[in-house]
Amino acid sequence: MEYLTFALAKGRLANKTLEMLEQVGITCEEMKDKESRKLIFVNEALKLKFFLSKGPDVPTYVEYGAADIGVVGKDTIMEEGRKLYEVLDLGFGKCRMCVCGPRDAKEYLQHKDLIRVATKYPNITKDYFFNKKHQTVEIIKLNGSIELAPIVELADVIVDIVETGSTLRENGLEVLEEVCPLSARMIVNQISMKTEHQRIMKIIGDLRAAIQKTEVL
Ligand code: PRP
Repeated sequence: MEYLTFALAKGRLANKTLEMLEQVGITCEEMKDKESRKLIFVNEALKLKFFLSKGPDVPTYVEYGAADIGVVGKDTIMEEGRKLYEVLDLGFGKCRMCVCGPRDAKEYLQHKDLIRVATKYPNITKDYFFNKKHQTVEIIKLNGSIELAPIVELADVIVDIVETGSTLRENGLEVLEEVCPLSARMIVNQISMKTEHQRIMKIIGDLRAAIQKTEVL
C-alpha cells in the first residue's frame, strides 16, 4: 500500500483539523510532540504521512501531488485558484470574507467610486469588485494587519476575514458588505482521487458522518 499524504495549514486550523481526523481514527502520535522540529510525520500502521505548511502553500502541495489531501480555509482555496477538488466543508473555522471600513466609506461602494482597497487577498478582491460588482478599484496588497490601512489612510476600505468582529470594533471600522462565508475545507489532488479512490472516499465518508454527528449534538 502507498502512503497517503496530508498537508495541513499551520496555525488556527491545525489543532481543530487534527482533532477532527482523530475522531475518525486518523491519528499521528508523532505530531503531538510540540518540541519536535521534524517537518513530516508518519503513521506506519495506517500508511499515512502528515506535514504542516503555511496555509497558502497547502493548495500548491495538493495540486502538484506532493500531498494527496489538504485541509485549508476556503479563503486560501479561492485566492490560490489551484487545480484540485474541494470535497468537503469541515464546518469549523467559520468566518466571513468582508469589505470593511469606516462607516462613511459605504457611500463609495454605493456610488461605485474609484477607491483604494487594501487586502491580503487580491484575487478574491478583484473577482468581487470587477466581476460581481462591476466597480473599478485600485487594489493594494498587504501581508497582515489589514485593518491599519484605512486608519492611516492607505486605503478607503479593506477586504479581509471577519471572525468575531472585535478587531474591526476596536479600530472604529465595520463590515460594509459581505463577500462570502468561509470555513475549513478538505481538498484532494485530482490524480490521487482516481488512484486512491477507495481510501479517499472512505475518509470523506467518515468525516462527513462525524460532522453530521456533531451538528446533531
Ligand atoms: C485575521 C483577520 C482579521 C482578524 C479577524 O487576522 O485578518 O485581522 O483575524 O478576527 P476577528 O473578527 O475575530 O477580530 P490574523 O489574526 O489572522 O492576522 P493578520 O492580521 O496578520 O492577517
